[in-house]
Amino acid sequence: MAQLTVISTPANVFRTRPASSFYHDVVQGLRAQQKYLDPKYFYDAAGDELFQQIMQCPEYYLTGCEMEIMTQQSAAIAAAFSKYAADYDVIELGAGDASKSIHLLQQLIDNGTDYTYYPIDISGNVIQLLNSSLPQQLPQLSFRGLQGEYFEMLKYASTISSRRKILLFMGGNIGNFSPAAARSFCQQLRQHLQSGDLLLTGFDLKKHPQLILHAYNDSAGITREFNFNLLRRINRELQADFDTSKFEHFPTYDPQSGSCKSYLISLCAQQVHIGDDVTIPFRENEPIYMEISQKYDPVEINQLAAFGGFAPVAEFRDQRNWFSDCLWQAV
Ligand code: AVJ
Repeated sequence: MAQLTVISTPANVFRTRPASSFYHDVVQGLRAQQKYLDPKYFYDAAGDELFQQIMQCPEYYLTGCEMEIMTQQSAAIAAAFSKYAADYDVIELGAGDASKSIHLLQQLIDNGTDYTYYPIDISGNVIQLLNSSLPQQLPQLSFRGLQGEYFEMLKYASTISSRRKILLFMGGNIGNFSPAAARSFCQQLRQHLQSGDLLLTGFDLKKHPQLILHAYNDSAGITREFNFNLLRRINRELQADFDTSKFEHFPTYDPQSGSCKSYLISLCAQQVHIGDDVTIPFRENEPIYMEISQKYDPVEINQLAAFGGFAPVAEFRDQRNWFSDCLWQAV
């Protein structure tokens, strides 16, 4: 039976030092010849809230697709887990509110699997929410939230778990890497795993380009606000003076490369200050590259697995074939 260890106090959270790299990364990105910001910084408390709203947008199909897979195929996924692994712990990268993985966690409990769930998230806000919601939703679940960068926390998880690992990396989060970055990310993941460990990772599949573009350009303008929120966060936390009315949100999708990229375009020549020391000049129409959401086809997914040192062992798709959760085993 499932362990009855429920630890839900703040002591249940392992914290790293606050990310002082925020300032460094922002200044480096905005001083680059091609300006960029790292989308991992979208997710402060306001950004988490906006992302929740994006997931409710009718145009943003990804969440519904993966939710369908999790609610309808959890038993099949759990069966695949036990076919390829015995005695494992489940670690989730970028757990969010765990509203998708919770179906799988429930299924594992129903099956009598003895495991601990380690949700890892960069957002302290997210880990705190999980700490209060998980014991209510799944009272039998043994879990421990880890707040911090993926690899740092993955290393830490290895020191407290001696079981085989099943890593969940869902929600199409891998899409936030360029194809080259995704390849090296998979290699790095592999280095943090033992041969035989499993990775369940979600890919948004290539589909009609208009459907994809609309998902990142919702009619309510929430995705635009999500992007602007990062400028506001920089204002708040780094004493900057971005005027969001002088920027325009510009989403793009290239159906051949599968790259869905969003930019903020400076509507005029302007200067933005960050603290007392940094001045960033903008030309009229100069873009800040904000985010990539890479789309894949099945061949590209399998190439990525092979490159990273994984063998694909199972695949779970929604009924429309828009999204794929792939189970890979470390070779
Ligand atoms: C959380 C990375 C999966 O790329 O679809 C949604 C983030 N950005 N709308 C995605 C996002 C704009 C999302 N991921």
